[in-house]
Amino acid sequence: MITINLAVVPGDGVGKEIMPEAVDVLTAIAEVHGGLKFQYEWYPYSCEYYIEHGKMMDDDGIEKLKNHDAIFLGAVGNPKLVADHVSLWGLLLPIRREFEQVINIRPAKLVKGVSSPLANPSEFEFVVVRENSEGEYSEVGGRIHKGPDEIAIQNAIFTRKGTERVMEYAFQYAMQRRRHLTSATKSNGIFHSMPFWDEVFHSMTERYPEVDTQSIHIDALSAFFVSKPHTFDVIVASNLFGDILTDLGAAVMGSIGIAPAANINLNGKYPSMFEPVHGSAPDIFGKGIANPIGQIWTGKMMLDHFGELELGTKLLNIIEEVVADGFKTPDIGGSFTTKEVSSEIIKRIKML
Ligand code: NAI
Ligand code: MG
Repeated sequence: MITINLAVVPGDGVGKEIMPEAVDVLTAIAEVHGGLKFQYEWYPYSCEYYIEHGKMMDDDGIEKLKNHDAIFLGAVGNPKLVADHVSLWGLLLPIRREFEQVINIRPAKLVKGVSSPLANPSEFEFVVVRENSEGEYSEVGGRIHKGPDEIAIQNAIFTRKGTERVMEYAFQYAMQRRRHLTSATKSNGIFHSMPFWDEVFHSMTERYPEVDTQSIHIDALSAFFVSKPHTFDVIVASNLFGDILTDLGAAVMGSIGIAPAANINLNGKYPSMFEPVHGSAPDIFGKGIANPIGQIWTGKMMLDHFGELELGTKLLNIIEEVVADGFKTPDIGGSFTTKEVSSEIIKRIKML
């Protein structure tokens, strides 16, 4: 029996509504496997926890979470109770940083039954592999001469180690898929870091002759996500470019409520974290209509992460069938509740 020991952090808002559903789905799909079991430990870390304890998590919260095989997280943020930068820097960012989750992966695909904002899109299915620890998002730089002569300098950090690491991951990922990899660059405008990025990418193409590669400038690439998303398989991008591309990816899918994501630790020292793209959606919280699919699909990514690819595929097929059959929450044009959608998914898992 394989036991996966999960830290479950529902967090705030709709995170609290969808997490119990996603956990029930995981339990059901593990039973299909027979030799797999999820063990759950629930953590109340959230903005409400902050109001009660003056902090987003226990002082030894990181130590506690570290003992799990993975972290399954809902959403964090309740701006009415706690300023967003406090909740983000008190929970999400410490997890990503302390646990060296250096890669962020977000798949996007056209899901039958969900209307994409693109008119008549061809079927697309791609994955953005984003560098998650350095690049444009650095604290290096400064400001001087406050006032009319003020200067702000923001440095981007591209290490050979970090760049090779994300590209290696992307090449490996492409090898398991359609063997097509696109590098998001901007070496025509950014003088140092992007030519370096291109060089590393080019040297790696020689190590993976089976993978068909292309480099596209980020501005054109953004346009292609809209005009011909079906031409992409895996896309590798720096932290900033990846951040923007992944939101665009979620947008062309049709709803942020269905988009999954994973923050991956590569050195095996710490757990990876699986969380949907969306936030706590305070505008719909409490109505029972949040779309559970982003969280459930994120669970599918977790199955993939633990090598249960076949099971992951089965789960995604069921998600797509359920949506195609019209079991949809209001964000994707339906009138079903969170619970009705997840119950239908569980019902079909049990029929496998
Ligand atoms: P949001 O993603 O919570 O909501 C944006 C829009 O999408 C809203 O109209 C919402 O109703 C809708 N939406 C989101 N998830 C949905 C779901 N599962 N089903 C149906 N509709 C859904 O982003 P927003 O409003 O900017 O942020 C709200 C709070 O969430 C803030 O405190 C923010 O900091 C936090 N946040 C947290 C994230 C995380 O935990 N990773 C990511 C994004 C925002
Ligand atoms: Mg973003």
